[in-house]
Amino acid sequence: MEKKRVSNFKPNAKYIAGAKWGDEGKGKIASRESEDAKLVIRATGGANAGHTIIYKDNKLALHLVPGGIVNPEAICLIGQGVAFDPIIFLQEIEDLNKINVPNVRERIKISGRAPVVFPYHKDLDGLYESIKDNPIGTTKRGIGPCYADHDNRVGMRVYDLLLPEDELAKKIDVATRVHNQLFKLYNMENCIVDPKKLAKEFHEYGQKIKEMVVNADILTSKARKNGDKIAVEGAQAYRLDKNYGDYENVTSSNCVTAGALIGGHLNHKDVKEVVMITKAYDSRVGNGPFPTELPAHIKNDVVLPYDKPFEGDIIREEGHEYGATTKRPRRVGWCDAVILRSAKDAEGADYICINHLDTLGKIGNILGNIKICVGYKYQGKEIDYYPDDMNLTHEVPTPIYKTLKGGWDISSDLRDYNKLPDLAKEFIKIVEDVAEIPVKYIGVGPKNEDLIVREEL
Ligand code: GDP
Ligand code: IMO
Ligand code: MG
Repeated sequence: MEKKRVSNFKPNAKYIAGAKWGDEGKGKIASRESEDAKLVIRATGGANAGHTIIYKDNKLALHLVPGGIVNPEAICLIGQGVAFDPIIFLQEIEDLNKINVPNVRERIKISGRAPVVFPYHKDLDGLYESIKDNPIGTTKRGIGPCYADHDNRVGMRVYDLLLPEDELAKKIDVATRVHNQLFKLYNMENCIVDPKKLAKEFHEYGQKIKEMVVNADILTSKARKNGDKIAVEGAQAYRLDKNYGDYENVTSSNCVTAGALIGGHLNHKDVKEVVMITKAYDSRVGNGPFPTELPAHIKNDVVLPYDKPFEGDIIREEGHEYGATTKRPRRVGWCDAVILRSAKDAEGADYICINHLDTLGKIGNILGNIKICVGYKYQGKEIDYYPDDMNLTHEVPTPIYKTLKGGWDISSDLRDYNKLPDLAKEFIKIVEDVAEIPVKYIGVGPKNEDLIVREEL
């Protein structure tokens, strides 16, 4: 009898997805998840991400290396979907060595197929922002232009950094012909690319990373076969996704689960669980709609001097909401549970992790109340979904809030959900009811262990 061929995929990948506009604490959860994962993968975005991790009391913002690096056993892959910036990467390795994270070089693998960010991508990023009436407020890390070159098939990939220098120079020459014309047109002569000079510099980076460059399909294939746990560290978030998000105020990758699979050399059968990360209040950095945003003394990404804080100033300062990548003060507002419901569908999420429940309690103690957005008024109607035609209507939905009186104090040692203050439990119940998805993890502090896990869910 002919042997029946069946796929023997054992799904064991967990995706750590951002639910709103980034900075929800994905790095913390990814580094925690790495404690029992064999492989940890960054799959999308690039050095626009800033993921805070704490290793033996040292706080570090990682931009490219997965947070799983803190687990000495974990292999960390920078996948084919990542816009790879060798300059920032090499700096990051030094930073990790400085805090004595073991065997960093041995444990990092870089997909040879990942697109490379060159300095001219950063110059182009700045140029596109400067010609816009309404700039996006990008991180200026060259992300959009790098992905655009990749789409146009004039991008360089990590493998190209391993080419002989003259071959790399030829490729850079072709890749930058149009860009150089643009630099001339906009009087940016200092940005015009000298292919030979750039090839020399980037060839050297290639030599420094060559032992880490791999065919990552083989790595994920092995993990799949062994049934190893894989943690995939999302970058950016649902509302920054280039298709789902607030276009054009988005990033240039598909950072929802489906995009992360391609970027991480995975297939849809690999996914075992998706945990969607949010904060107990919301934040956004850069421009674009933010329905629950609160007033704050911020202008042009700078905090202005003030005597009496607005609500937004209080939340920003209590949550230390300053960009891990750009140090820009983040815009802040109340938790929008309506977005969570839409995000759950886009991400295929199984449950939510709410970080900063400790901080929300402090905010409530100061302001006297806490709000949660449970619906919107939009175009004269009450709606329970996030609209996608705001650029037609020129209207940002007005939140409908539920208000809880007071705040709470939670120690970062608390692990028992039942011991949470009643008001905090009420807040979580409202989020669950509106988002239609359970809250399984609750962050009560910045360290990996500062987490309540509801095992019963
Ligand atoms: P990411 O981009 O999603 O990884 O998030 P960021 O690292 O940019 O921002 C999250 C910030 O919140 C970091 O400063 C974390 O240390 C901090 N953080 C994460 N979870 C908690 C929490 O539950 N409580 C407190 N107080 N801080 C947290
Ligand atoms: P993590 O992974 C917050 C925002 C930028 C800008 C828009 C486009 O730390 O959550 P880009 O440089 O990507 O072209 O900028 O996206 N942005 C982020 N905001 N956290 C991030 O990453 C972000 N990555 C990009 O501020 O509004
Ligand atoms: Mg961040």
